[in-house]
Order: sequence, then C-alpha cells, then structure tokens
Amino acid sequence: MVYIPKEIMDLLKPGETQKEVVKVLATADDKGVPHAIILGPLMAIDEETLAFGIIWASTTKKNLETTKNACIIVYKPPMTACRVHGTFEEYVTSGPLFDRYTDELKKWDLECAGVIKIKVTDVCSASGGKRWGEDSYSSKSVPLYST
Ligand SMILES: Cc1cc2nc3c(=O)[nH]c(=O)nc-3n(C[C@H](O)[C@H](O)[C@H](O)COP(=O)(O)O)c2cc1C
Repeated sequence: MVYIPKEIMDLLKPGETQKEVVKVLATADDKGVPHAIILGPLMAIDEETLAFGIIWASTTKKNLETTKNACIIVYKPPMTACRVHGTFEEYVTSGPLFDRYTDELKKWDLECAGVIKIKVTDVCSASGGKRWGEDSYSSKSVPLYST
C-alpha cells in the first residue's frame, strides 16, 4: 500500500503552516498536453487521499475528470520536497468535507466552488539525495479529516 509519510502529512494539515508550503499540481489533457497550477491549501484527508478546493481551476478540473492523472509537488524550503502521483477520485460540492474546505479557504480570502479528492498511487522524495526510509512510510498517523 502507498501512503504519504508523516513528515509530509504534517505539512498538509489545515492552518497557517499551509502558507509556508508550496504546492504545484500538474495534470494533462486528452492530447497529453501538461498543465501545472499553484495550489493554496492542499489537505491530506488521510494518508492515501489528498483534497484541494476548486476556485478558478477549470482546466485542471476538466483534465482530472477526463484523464484522471495528477502529479503534485509539495515543497517546504529549504529541502523538504515530495512528489505524489494520484488519480481523480471525486468532485464534492456539499457535505462535511466541502464545509471544512470552505472554512479553510476563507483564511486565504478565497471562495470554494467544490473539492477535488485525489487517490494517492505513488509517493517519493523530490529532495535530491534526501530520502525517507521505510520506517516513516510504515508509521500510520491519525487522519486529519473524516469524510
Ligand atoms: C498562491 C496561490 C494559490 C492558489 N490556490 C488555488 C486553489 O487552491 N484552487 C484553485 O482553483 N486555484 C488556485 N490558484 C489559482 C490557480 O493556480 C490558477 O488560477 C490556475 O491557472 C487556474 O487553474 P486552471 O488553469 O486549471 O483553470 C492559486 C493561485 C495562487 C497564486
């Protein structure tokens, strides 16, 4: 089973830490044309699922619904960086997850149209020589959100 290590989970909690972490999401259209965007809050619902709010990202949403694949870089300076591959799971426009995301985006003065859930399929270090060991991948932490 693939999951997000605790060191990265800690960067993807709700709250002010999110503003210190750079998140870049890449998708592709049905012709394979890549499309990368900056994300504000990116939350780990649990160690196998990420979520972000759709505000303006219409091309990204269309790409995910069409071709399903996502690649996300999570970067905290100076040298913590992680690459997560995943697939489009669901677009949520109501319910507890949507409500919590709406609250989180208010901290950025942004309004949430819906929440995209991404199922994690692969996680690796993007920090050059810095690698996380098996231990950090096998220690389960408590989910941040329940859906
Ligand atoms: C700091 C920052 C955070 C952003 N966060 C989000 C976000 O969480 N959701 C979103 O839909 N767009 C966000 N954007 C805007 C998108 O990155 C940008 O408008 C994108 O081009 C729109 O998506 P699209 O090209 O897929 O249509 C953010 C932009 C910046 C600069």
